[in-house]
Amino acid sequence: MAELIDHPCVQHKLAIIRDVETGHKRFRELAKEITKFICYEALKNIKTKAVKIQTPVAEATCRKIDTNIVVIPILRAGIGMLEGILELVPTARVGFVGLYRDEKTKLPVSYYERYPPQIIGGTCIVIDPMLATGGSTAAAIDRLKEEGADNIIVICIVTCPEGIRLVETAHPDVIIYAAAIDEKLNEKKYIVPGLGDAGDRLFGTSH
Ligand code: PRP
Ligand code: URA
Repeated sequence: MAELIDHPCVQHKLAIIRDVETGHKRFRELAKEITKFICYEALKNIKTKAVKIQTPVAEATCRKIDTNIVVIPILRAGIGMLEGILELVPTARVGFVGLYRDEKTKLPVSYYERYPPQIIGGTCIVIDPMLATGGSTAAAIDRLKEEGADNIIVICIVTCPEGIRLVETAHPDVIIYAAAIDEKLNEKKYIVPGLGDAGDRLFGTSH
């Protein structure tokens, strides 16, 4: 299932991050800001527990988050979203999954992974700005499940129907949160209209 975060504050920033004239410094800032908004929405159903708090006036029954949150950026572009989530959930742990899309096959190739043990029993948030064919995200979820994770959500900035279908079919239990569900993939498997190569735009490696 995919949930579109259609809030005007998100859509305004999305318009700027998509713009070909937006340079890498601003692109990075926007990726962080957009991620924070999406994450805020995505975490609205996480587990909480009731706690008693003594205010200066009286005892209050409050709620605190009752799950270990583990953020898993897909390297390298997922790194551009990490700070936004950590500002919202400063106690989150971080795991890493290194995947790149082979230029010819467009299939994900794994080159690194490291997860904290709290992926078992905790809430795992896979982050990657682009969910295109869905191959990289599905592969990351495969690996997390193999390691024992069973509560996983995905946060991306831009996706498309083809990628959502692939992830939904492989992992019907995982909800995808996105700021945009674009029209399609082009012949190079880039999202159209998309925002181009997220890794290159984040890290200034295009030209
Ligand atoms: C991009 C992007 C995703 C993947 C999406 O990464 O950040 O990880 O492609 O494509 P998919 O849904 O078709 O798998 P890329 O492979 O370019 O690596 P990078 O993050 O190192 O730039
Ligand atoms: N990877 C990107 O960075 N952008 C796309 O549109 C597709 C894959």
